[in-house]
Amino acid sequence: MKDPEKAKERIEELSRRLNEHNYRYYVLDQPSISDYDYDMMMEELISLEQQFPELLDPNSPSRRVGGEITKKFPAVKHRYPMLSLSNTYSREEVIAFHTRVQKAIDGPVDYVCELKFDGVAISLTYENGVLVRAVTRGDGVQGDEVTANIKTIRSIPLKISDAGLSSFDVRGEVYMPHNSFLHLNEEKEKNGEALFANPRNAASGSLKMQDSTLVARRNLDCFMYAAMGEELNFNTHWESIQALKRWGFKVSDDTRKCEGIDEVFRFIEEGEKKRAGLPFDIDGVVIKVNSYAQQERLGYTSKFPRWAIAFKYKAVQGVTHLLDIAFQVGRTGAVTPVAILKPVLIAGSTVQRASLYNEDRMIELNLHRNDMVVVEKGGDIIPKIVDVDASQREKHAEKIDFATHCPECDTRLEKKTGEAVHYCPNNDACPPQIQGRIEHFISRRAMNIESLGQGKTELLIARGKVQNIADLYDLTYDDLIGLEKTIEDPATGKARTVRFRDKTVKNILSAIENSTSVSFDRVLYALGIRHLGETMAKKLAHHFENIDRLRQSSYDELIAVRDVGEKMAESIHAYFEDARNLEIIERLKRAGLSFSVDKQETEKGDALSGKSFVVSGVFAQYSRDEIKEFIRQHGGEVKSSISSKTSFLLAGDQMGPEKRKKAEALGVPIIDEAELHNMIR
Ligand code: IVH
Repeated sequence: MKDPEKAKERIEELSRRLNEHNYRYYVLDQPSISDYDYDMMMEELISLEQQFPELLDPNSPSRRVGGEITKKFPAVKHRYPMLSLSNTYSREEVIAFHTRVQKAIDGPVDYVCELKFDGVAISLTYENGVLVRAVTRGDGVQGDEVTANIKTIRSIPLKISDAGLSSFDVRGEVYMPHNSFLHLNEEKEKNGEALFANPRNAASGSLKMQDSTLVARRNLDCFMYAAMGEELNFNTHWESIQALKRWGFKVSDDTRKCEGIDEVFRFIEEGEKKRAGLPFDIDGVVIKVNSYAQQERLGYTSKFPRWAIAFKYKAVQGVTHLLDIAFQVGRTGAVTPVAILKPVLIAGSTVQRASLYNEDRMIELNLHRNDMVVVEKGGDIIPKIVDVDASQREKHAEKIDFATHCPECDTRLEKKTGEAVHYCPNNDACPPQIQGRIEHFISRRAMNIESLGQGKTELLIARGKVQNIADLYDLTYDDLIGLEKTIEDPATGKARTVRFRDKTVKNILSAIENSTSVSFDRVLYALGIRHLGETMAKKLAHHFENIDRLRQSSYDELIAVRDVGEKMAESIHAYFEDARNLEIIERLKRAGLSFSVDKQETEKGDALSGKSFVVSGVFAQYSRDEIKEFIRQHGGEVKSSISSKTSFLLAGDQMGPEKRKKAEALGVPIIDEAELHNMIR
């Protein structure tokens, strides 16, 4: 598009439609278009904004993907202080609260009951319908401005159209949904990074990240629970909540107007039942007097409003015997203690393992075999041991100490100064470390050698065919053919036989061969350097351009790269100081792996990430294998047969009619080579 007038119109149209779809998807949970159509609109908008930078609106829906960097979060004073609530755990105190309220007020009192979301409080300021500032609670008087990061939360409107107000504030709670939290910790574990203890810490940590692109990937969300401003003339809290909903904010459907204290108690009980099944954490309910006039009459103490109270649920706990402590060895050699418990039912699910974090925690608890321990499924997704009943300890119970030697290879464990974590230093020969590193190396987002999936790597290691990632590139047909082993599937406990037949071997060897064309950033990620996740590997690859410059970089040069912290810099240095790693890199270089960014590579990306393709027919620009590789290099997946989960059928000339029929029957879109290129652009 050349004409700026037309571009402006189109940008407005796309923004309006994307905002509408955002709202339908993230606030109402009622999407009305496919992810693909949404992505296409977003791509068109981004491309127009790049073409006409003068038309870029800071609140364009394209800003949701982040991009802004905040070096320092400035302190901002709240227009209205952010108070906290007085807490109670007992029904009696709720009744006492109700009695105090009734004493101060003649006539009936209505309440609004809400869930008490367990996240991070936020205050948003809208001026002329546009989000201009987002500030954390801080000390209640002033907080940190985190606007760029908040804008990545898709359920928060960047603009509201029908408020007609010059200025108002909205308050709510930013939280991390359980599935995002689990996914984040899985990633962290894979990268050998410290895990977040619970979704609240993860949400709060995410809001303080400098690069909003990274925040965008954390999938934070936000429930709103208050509106305030001179121009708002609502009479009740309930009215203000309804207005927030109308303006497009996400308000919990579990917010309810309650007439009288009996209804309040019903809400409390229902909330407690619902709690375990919610996709996010709550730690209680909040009870607020509905009428603003009554709120004003009740007033405030020095810390809290007198018109509201938080009823906190007790953490869900169970008591059981501690049978043993297992020590798990991860890919990076980090050893974590896990309590093995006599199975106990807590809040609807059986718990038989609980997290113990590290040695310090074990020492604090002073655990003995068969101790009665209190297990809590609270804010943390993984149950943890919170207490031990020493009075019930058997007389000569054996104290359980942290392992001194690796449970897998019997090497003496080490502890780095200043860190609470123990490591098994036998990186080269400790089986779970070898296995973990190879599995990480071949994983889809690293070298994508899928045909060597679990079970097969185990067999190769067991037969001494591979000890490290470089060995993969020395494998020959003769090494593999005929290998066979019966393996127990850890998920089902069932035994199955893994056997390398002619076809399997050929597939494995060609997948290994194909992996030599994987780009440098993915190779860097695949090496499995501690603390170096996928995103940072990408950043470092592009910053240093090749492995030698990265290896020679000083600590200061590393730290100067955005989001590289001390731990990451140290771990990169430690990696390159180890001669064994340098030898592996040399061997991988000889095998033809990419250790520098070339021009062609910089054109690759992850535009097709999350999409799967079935490729059929003959193509103009590429051979069939080349086009498959092209898809993979842009983050897509190639599958051999069409199912309802296939994103696209990529059709070349002379494609068989059966494939077309099947795609049409399953509603799988059929695209050609040109459309594939457009998706990447
Ligand atoms: S109202 C003056 N409503 O709880 C009243 N707070 O201890 C201000 N919270 O900092 C808060 N859910 O972070 C309110 N539905 C809800 C809430 C809620 C969670 C948090 C909020 C606040 C803390 C109060």
